[in-house]
Amino acid sequence: MNYKHSFHAGNFADVLKHMALLGLIEALQRKEAGFLLLDTHGGRGGYLLDSYEAQKTSEAAGGILRLLDRRPVEQQPKRRQAPPPMLARYLEAIDRFDAEAFPGSGSGIAPLRAYPGSPLLAARALRPQDRLVACELQPSEHAALAKALAPWPRALAELRDGYAAVKAQLPAPERRALVLIDPPFEAQEAEYDAILTAVREGLRRMPAALFAVWFPIKRKAGIARLLRRAADLPAKSVLLAELMVRPDDSPLRMNGCGLLLVNPPYRFDQALAQTLPALREGLGETLPSARLDWLRREEAA
Ligand SMILES: C[S@@+](CC[C@H](N)C(=O)[O-])C[C@H]1O[C@@H](n2cnc3c(N)ncnc32)[C@H](O)[C@@H]1O
Repeated sequence: MNYKHSFHAGNFADVLKHMALLGLIEALQRKEAGFLLLDTHGGRGGYLLDSYEAQKTSEAAGGILRLLDRRPVEQQPKRRQAPPPMLARYLEAIDRFDAEAFPGSGSGIAPLRAYPGSPLLAARALRPQDRLVACELQPSEHAALAKALAPWPRALAELRDGYAAVKAQLPAPERRALVLIDPPFEAQEAEYDAILTAVREGLRRMPAALFAVWFPIKRKAGIARLLRRAADLPAKSVLLAELMVRPDDSPLRMNGCGLLLVNPPYRFDQALAQTLPALREGLGETLPSARLDWLRREEAA
């Protein structure tokens, strides 16, 4: 396996995924009862945007760095409209993470240096009654993740296959679970099979569990089959959120990305509907577009 998330941390895909993750956590926390958050593909937890890897691709420049302008208002090119609530909370969490990692840099002037991966963002957002299990298969990434999560006794970093963890962890004793599936997609079709098998198995074990599946989009035609298969999942509802930062005219690069939300919380579609246009405007390069559709929706009885 060659994938290292350090090359991609903070790119437009991370923005959509991490913003939605925080939004989902917040929605689940509207109830007092705790929940399990299973992050099947955790990565190393925290990333440095001035690292060799991040600088080599500069992907954060097309992602978080376009949205989080820390310069004083008078130096910003054009004052943007206040971001919608879900995006505002995500930007605030990222700003705070960096300010804590590099005290003094949160003064509103220095560029962002530290960016949290999904397990670290989640660990920081969880309450004492919530629990995080984050899996990572590469030993070096896992070692970094275990170190990053050490301050949170209710957050566990497991060196294991995340798909197998779905079977091992569900049903969660908390009776509420959110499973984030964010694989490297080194073998696209095979990854779809693994994802859908894991989600089906998870739903069989825990029908009300919530799944958030991230996937890259090169050509839209390439995801048609995934979406058809997602619509057939034995779940109450499946919501698709898609963000294209440019036309899907090249099969060689990631032109957009999507999130499949299986059993999303009540009205989460409305929160996304408020937010996707802001991401499209803020992150789009050429002819950007966004889509939000129910692939499956069971009518209330
Ligand atoms: C896209 S990155 C994850 C990024 C992370 N979710 C985030 O948002 O910060 C995918 C990670 O999954 C790891 N990985 C690949 N196959 C895996 C598997 N079967 N189980 C667990 N981790 C795996 C890779 O080593 C890589 O670190």
